[in-house]
Amino acid sequence: MQDREKRRLIVVSNRLPIVVKKIDNDEYRVQSASGGLVTAMTPILKRDGGLWIGWAGNYFEESVEVENLLKKEGEKLNYEYRSVDITLNDYKLYYKGFSNEVLWPLFHNVSVYCNFVPKYYEAFKKVNKKFAKTVMDELVDDDFIWIHDYHLINVAKELREEGVKNIVVFFLHIPFPPAETFNRLPWRLEIIEAMLSYSLIGFQTALDKKNFLEVVTSLIKSAVVEDEKLEISKIIIDKKEHKVGVFPISIDYDEFHDKAKSRRVSKEVEKINKEYYGQKIMLGVDRLDYSKGILQKLRAYWKLLDENHDLHKKVKLIQIVVPSRENIIKYIHLKSDIEQLVSEINGEFTQPGWIPIQYCYYSLNNTELLAYYRASEIAMVTPLRDGMNLVAKEYCATNINKNGVLILSEFAGTKDQFKDNALLVNPFDENSVVEAIKKALLMDDKEKQRRMKNMQKIVKKFDIYWWVDTFLKASKI
Ligand code: F6P
Repeated sequence: MQDREKRRLIVVSNRLPIVVKKIDNDEYRVQSASGGLVTAMTPILKRDGGLWIGWAGNYFEESVEVENLLKKEGEKLNYEYRSVDITLNDYKLYYKGFSNEVLWPLFHNVSVYCNFVPKYYEAFKKVNKKFAKTVMDELVDDDFIWIHDYHLINVAKELREEGVKNIVVFFLHIPFPPAETFNRLPWRLEIIEAMLSYSLIGFQTALDKKNFLEVVTSLIKSAVVEDEKLEISKIIIDKKEHKVGVFPISIDYDEFHDKAKSRRVSKEVEKINKEYYGQKIMLGVDRLDYSKGILQKLRAYWKLLDENHDLHKKVKLIQIVVPSRENIIKYIHLKSDIEQLVSEINGEFTQPGWIPIQYCYYSLNNTELLAYYRASEIAMVTPLRDGMNLVAKEYCATNINKNGVLILSEFAGTKDQFKDNALLVNPFDENSVVEAIKKALLMDDKEKQRRMKNMQKIVKKFDIYWWVDTFLKASKI
């Protein structure tokens, strides 16, 4: 039996947790990358060490400078970085194109947003080969290779074709769509076969796994599924076995909880409370993305204010939008639609001493983020579809007074763990969101505490270390 103990861990993801940006005068600056994958994987690498391979946001032409910077960054840590250089053209066709104009909308069940352009798929294959080549350049002995997310589905297939025998496993951070949606993909069979090159394929929720099994059996007639209802199922094709499991990703609960109690954060909370004295804060923290349902959330808030004048001056929505994929046309349009809607709402309801929405388009630093979590009576996590959503878990972990209420979309992966304690809403139905906000505002402290305590228990027990250990245990062959 092979297992991962004592083997070096190689994590491969499209993005590294740091982005190297060129600023004036040929100078480069290192910034943190955003997104759930980075939040989840960083503590694992910190604990276990290893090598993280990914894209640092740079292009091929800058590779020497970037490699030096990454080396320096790695010296501060107990794990290393290795970047994969991609050209500007690769970036356009593989990242903007196939990853974010095909797989992202398809997997989030909005196939009408997909641009099924054949040259996107060609670039996807080419860049996946490049990632596989970088892995092979670094590979020693029995390294354990863990590939992450939709951008890199083809990597195991490429490695196998080159004769690599190491364990190669995969985790999909985003949802997997129903067969009816997935099967619209012109390259559906190739993508499924590539996924079946991994010995273990991990999904966030039981629904994602169920959808995947349905797609596999619809496309590969000889596929037999065993243990379908269990956490880990098996697919047998021509006597070869593939494991498929459910592993809800999480956060480092203790780190969030402890940092939230720090003096720095407490001082920041005081500042926020002073600034919004007398107003109940509702908080939204979302990466700029149509899947996050930001426009729908704003419309629901508009309805709330329109129908409940008694709430004017008493509530405040703080909506943080974290910049993301800013060069993709859908995201450019989304940003301006959000900003238009925010100014319409503020224009209609603002009164002396009260602006209904505070909108921020930037990445908060850690102290600010934790302080906003702590200062908010309500968190509004209302995506139209989301693999998991770690903002919901971060909000609970940092709620040290246990007086916050989580309003949560039925279509976020987190729903499976929080359904009994969050206020669930259908984000497509403004009424359901309005009713949930009203219920949250009226909820008594005892009930708030009971619900929050239960959610905290879940996040603490099933934290990021539980996630990685469970996944790695399942990957034993
Ligand atoms: O969590 C899903 C995900 O696509 C991650 O893979 C990614 O790091 C994050 O969202 C942010 O997206 P991007 O890397 O495209 O900025």
